[in-house]
Amino acid sequence: MTIENSITEAARARVAQAADDRIRQISDALVRHLHAFIREVEPSQAEWKAGIDFLTRTGHMCDDLRQEFILLSDVLGVSMLVDAINHRQDRGATQSTVLGPFYVDNPPEMPAGADIAAGLPGAPLLVEGRVTDAAGNALAGAIVDTWQADEAGFYDVQQLDRLGGLSGRARFRTDAEGRFHFWTVKPSSYPIPDDGPVGDLLKAQGRHPWRPAHVHFMIAAPGHATLVTHVFEAGDRYLDSDVVFGVKPQLIAQIEHCPAGDAPDGRAMAQPYHRLRYDFALAPEKGD
Ligand code: BEZ
Ligand code: FE
Repeated sequence: MTIENSITEAARARVAQAADDRIRQISDALVRHLHAFIREVEPSQAEWKAGIDFLTRTGHMCDDLRQEFILLSDVLGVSMLVDAINHRQDRGATQSTVLGPFYVDNPPEMPAGADIAAGLPGAPLLVEGRVTDAAGNALAGAIVDTWQADEAGFYDVQQLDRLGGLSGRARFRTDAEGRFHFWTVKPSSYPIPDDGPVGDLLKAQGRHPWRPAHVHFMIAAPGHATLVTHVFEAGDRYLDSDVVFGVKPQLIAQIEHCPAGDAPDGRAMAQPYHRLRYDFALAPEKGD
């Protein structure tokens, strides 16, 4: 038997020695699928080296603020597949989507109605929502973390030097009826960071790097599965081609244009503003 014919079974037999069941299962699948990939692609030595170089550059691009491997997983649709597999049973709950690389742990907590984007350029946007369980019962005291890009399509963490601190993100707590609201600026569609190996890959694949305009939410309440999602702006030109495959029809909402005057939260608006309303339902916590 030639090496080409025997190497896959030899590698499988070797990893079958793993004592841990899950490690053994994952290792066996890894060997089978990697070998099948190589058998299909039949890379030249130069192509294999280019692949190794690509992964090496991806690793070197990573630091505390930039996670190029997550970006790679995102643009290949793998992050959304993992998300889908892990949210099969969430009937009645709001759909989840990718976390993305711009979440910051423990964002600044703000009172209801605060402006999370004070000082950022952009059209004013009032965001209002309600958090319930999957049966529609209000969840009081739920933690609502929100973050978004500004009008120019940049997150605060991409321009900390210029801004001097966090902006366009905050934590709110729902009231007795599960409601929350805040002011911000209307987000724009934006390209994901494409100045690294993932950007090179997108170019080589003939793909654009854009995401449709959205506001991120991470919502947590005791006894419930934490919801990680976004709300996308209806009508955005990239809804059908989000570079990270994160759009689900249920997560698209209309952003209303409102004339100057008293806003629904009582704020006197001297200029026209926008309004986004979206309600969220959390699934029960999983037993694992
Ligand atoms: C985001 O929406 O922030 C995002 C998600 C995936 C990749 C890059 C950015
Ligand atoms: Fe985003």
